[in-house]
Amino acid sequence: MILIHTKKELGDFLADQRRLGKSVGLVPTMGALHIGHASLVNRSVAENDITVVSVFLNPTQFNDPNDLEKYPRTLEADCRLLEECGATVCFAPSVQEVYPEPDTRTFSYPPTDSVMEGAFRPGHFNGVCQVVSKLFMMAEPDRAYFGEKDFQQIAVIRRMVEDLKFKIEIVPCPVIREESGLAFSSRNTLLSEDERRIAANIYQTLKASKLMAGKATVQQTHAYVVEHIEAIEGLRVEYYSIVDGRTLADVDDWSQSEDIVGCITVFCGSQPIRLIDHIRYK
Ligand code: PAJ
Repeated sequence: MILIHTKKELGDFLADQRRLGKSVGLVPTMGALHIGHASLVNRSVAENDITVVSVFLNPTQFNDPNDLEKYPRTLEADCRLLEECGATVCFAPSVQEVYPEPDTRTFSYPPTDSVMEGAFRPGHFNGVCQVVSKLFMMAEPDRAYFGEKDFQQIAVIRRMVEDLKFKIEIVPCPVIREESGLAFSSRNTLLSEDERRIAANIYQTLKASKLMAGKATVQQTHAYVVEHIEAIEGLRVEYYSIVDGRTLADVDDWSQSEDIVGCITVFCGSQPIRLIDHIRYK
């Protein structure tokens, strides 16, 4: 695997590969890689000749400077994991390289980017669209891989791809979970043993709510999730939304859509750490 830090070097390398007729898969990440990321890389390696994994902690998508500061940075370990997965390139540019000048572009895809994470983290998806569009222009991949862990992010990126007419296939990949059900996340390393155990209740409650969903209304199912999670000491629900899986607009009746997903954000512990998860009801 080669480690590349500049756009120029990445562009030259990929131009050579394309002349040889090679297909390119891109896996955008912010580093602190775990087996959730590895599942995306493995999929790209299986489906493309060349796999580029970007490791870039994108400042423009953090609305909370504290969150950015706390975010784990582990490039050496990341490279070892990527090497094991068979990635071709680790692209780890500096902030200056990605943003030689401030990015003033704005992206707006309501309701996809204005609800849930969009409402609670103002500017977050604008930053995601800024960096992902730049990475798409730098790597010009045939396919790009994203985890359903960040369910809303995929919906926003699909809108951006349509809007900017990128000819890139967006490949959604399933959530990889710890045995307890907790979704792997770079932020999990910030949790204590105890908090990690408590955090497992998030997915367990979502799963239980899926069992009751057939017999209960959307409102009852919503209340069940919020009440059960808030009853656990150390967990606080920021929002729980039951939405159409494509548009992310709220649904208030199960018959309203064929694709219904519950999306949750929970604060865990005293720091606290912000965790997101979701469950598909239909
Ligand atoms: P990051 O949080 O590093 O995640 C990179 C990719 O890995 C995302 O597509 C995310 O959904 C996926 N991922 C993370 N945990 C996962 C899990 N447990 N199972 C499956 N996939 C998982 O998402 C971002 O970075 C950034 O917003 C980015 C798209 C790189 C733009 O900066």
